Amino acid sequence: MESWKRYVLVVLMMFSFVYQISTSVTHYSIPEEMKDGSVVANLATDLGLDVKTLNQRKMRLDIIANKKYLDVNKDTGELYVVEKIDREYICPTKSSASCYLRLEVILENPLRIFNIEVEILDMNDNAPQFRRDAIHLDISEATPKGERFSLSNAVDPDVGTNSVKTYHLSESEYFNIEVQTGREGSKFADLILKRALDREKQAVHNLILTAVDGGTPARSGTASVIVHVLDTNDNAPTFEKANLSVKIIENSPIGILVIDLNATDLDEGSNSDLTYSYSLYTSEKTQETFNLNPSTGEITVKGMLNYEDFKIYDMEVIATDKGVNSLSGQCTIKILVEDMNDNHPEISIKSFQSPVNENIELDTVIAVVSVSDKDSGDNGLVELHIPHNMPFKLRESSDNYYQLVVSQPLDREKVPEYDITFTVTDRGSPPLSDNETMTLELLDVNDNVPQFPQSFYTIRVMENNAPGALLSSLTAFDPDLHENQYLVYFILEKEIANTSMSMLFSINPENGNLYALKTFDYEIEREFLFHIEARDSGSPPLSSNVTVHIIIVDQNDNAPVIVSPWRAHGSVVEEKIPRSTDKGSLVAKVIALDTDSVHNSRITYQFLQVTDATLFSLDQYNGEIRTMRMFSYRDPRHQRLVVVAKDNGDPALSATVTIKLSTVETAVK
Ligand SMILES: *[C@@H]1O[C@H](CO)[C@@H](O)[C@H](O)[C@H]1NC(C)=O
Ligand SMILES: *[C@@H]1O[C@H](CO)[C@@H](O)[C@H](O)[C@H]1NC(C)=O
Ligand SMILES: *[C@@H]1O[C@H](CO)[C@@H](O)[C@H](O)[C@H]1NC(C)=O
Ligand SMILES: *[C@@H]1O[C@H](CO)[C@@H](O)[C@H](O)[C@H]1NC(C)=O
Ligand SMILES: *[C@@H]1O[C@H](CO)[C@@H](O)[C@H](O)[C@H]1NC(C)=O
Repeated sequence: MESWKRYVLVVLMMFSFVYQISTSVTHYSIPEEMKDGSVVANLATDLGLDVKTLNQRKMRLDIIANKKYLDVNKDTGELYVVEKIDREYICPTKSSASCYLRLEVILENPLRIFNIEVEILDMNDNAPQFRRDAIHLDISEATPKGERFSLSNAVDPDVGTNSVKTYHLSESEYFNIEVQTGREGSKFADLILKRALDREKQAVHNLILTAVDGGTPARSGTASVIVHVLDTNDNAPTFEKANLSVKIIENSPIGILVIDLNATDLDEGSNSDLTYSYSLYTSEKTQETFNLNPSTGEITVKGMLNYEDFKIYDMEVIATDKGVNSLSGQCTIKILVEDMNDNHPEISIKSFQSPVNENIELDTVIAVVSVSDKDSGDNGLVELHIPHNMPFKLRESSDNYYQLVVSQPLDREKVPEYDITFTVTDRGSPPLSDNETMTLELLDVNDNVPQFPQSFYTIRVMENNAPGALLSSLTAFDPDLHENQYLVYFILEKEIANTSMSMLFSINPENGNLYALKTFDYEIEREFLFHIEARDSGSPPLSSNVTVHIIIVDQNDNAPVIVSPWRAHGSVVEEKIPRSTDKGSLVAKVIALDTDSVHNSRITYQFLQVTDATLFSLDQYNGEIRTMRMFSYRDPRHQRLVVVAKDNGDPALSATVTIKLSTVETAVK
């Protein structure tokens, strides 16, 4: 059965009751929202009218103070719906429990007016509705739990059970609702805080409030409840790490960023607006060296960073928010300054011995040197060295102390002094170094023997020399210094044939000039062999000697002497020769002797005079005079030959001999 028919049935039952108590009003009940044309009742039947007369009596319907929702069929007497009836439209005020359409049925001939009341029964045709789709609430996070907040209620134009019956809230761990009943039975809900809010955990809560009516089926309407949690300053600023350590290289430029402190405050607005400051724990020195930007928390370099002065800076920074009851958080920062190789190593000569004797012993300590470097690590590790080509070496005696010792024999005569450069280098990158040069002077020691340029001197002296003639200069050399170099020359005594050399020669002790003391004669003495010594004046003195060989050189100071044919001095030699002597026969042999030496004594023979040049020949080398032909009677009986013997000197010396030849007839016995 359609629902509206069920209502009509109920109305009809009521009608009989109404009719009983009030004959003037006929009562019907119909549900709202009936379809056009739906029959509500048969008025003819209900009012006891003859159906056939209705047209004739011009039956009509008046609806008082309302649109024409209903009409009557004059043929059947049926009251039917002309336009859909909305109860909530007709009776907007909720207070009236019942809603009526009052009608008058008017008939003429005779005129009859029937009052009819059509009660419009509510149907659940409206869903509860909120005035706004969204309900915004601002709730402080400090609000205690149990606090209530009224929510605007939903309205449902339906009445009675079809009206709002209750509310539901979407699932929330923070909120629930309590449904209240108002004076006129209206329902509304209070939002109740179940537990304390935390903006930092959830700043906005989106809830759905559903209003449900009591109809069957129930209808509902929803509104979103948006709870904005208002911040309170309940969070202190915090640093990501309470304990930071940063490294920065020394000599970093002013203004360079060391660290950017990012403290955070979970609150919002001024409650999270932070200022940074140093705590009292932070020393003046640290505050002077590092700048803290109060609004950004950036720490920058403000003063010189010198690792050698300060290696670690400790600071404590406080971040404070600007909330009403401001909160703060703190952080300790350790700034470690890192070493840079910015210090040159240093050399300090602790002792240096100069001058020293050139014959100083090997391994003797000449100098003690210490080295240092203010840097640390490799930058501060230093090494000392000297050039490789030096007769010295370095020996590390203790930490950073070195001894310079002699490693090879020294010789002043080769290198009189040394410029020793000590170079210290650290292991930084790039390495730094320093150097210092010391001069070591060597003292002379008499360690050199005087040296003659030659070990053997041959000196030729022309005989007949003048006494006191300078023969030679025998100069020795001594590379030592001063008295070690000052030489004295003398002849080493040696007897030759009972003659003392110093009677023959003399030497200038200071310059080595050698003189002859007498005139020498080659024909008597031809050479002398002796030694000359040069001695220095060192202590002890050193000396050396050379052999001097004096050779007397011959001069052509002797004339040839004719020894054959023998004759008394100055006289003429007379020879007899047979007339019959053959051609080529030896007539005479001239022999001359010369006491000079070889060269000066080589003799040649020549005729100075000859009577007949065709008769005799003279061998110029052996002095033999031979016949060149047989004698004839025409030849004179006496022949005169003059022979000259000439030596080879320059100028040549000579002697002559005159030979008188007489031819005889018979052979000489
Ligand atoms: C910082 O760290 C050091 C060691 O790393 C520790 O001894 C000190 O207690 C820490 N300080 C704080 C405030 O955490
Ligand atoms: C702070 O924040 C900046 C920028 O986000 C970042 O570069 C820096 O490393 C942070 N500082 C620290 C200590 O975390
Ligand atoms: C010594 O140091 C000076 C600068 O101080 C430098 O000019 C020179 O080259 C160095 N000498 C050596 C041998 O290193
Ligand atoms: C040298 O002199 C000594 C005596 O003084 C003498 O006996 C000796 O015969 C001399 N020798 C010569 C070669 O003249
Ligand atoms: C001369 O010198 C040599 C060495 O050069 C030495 O053997 C010799 O004894 C010296 N002669 C004299 C007379 O001193």
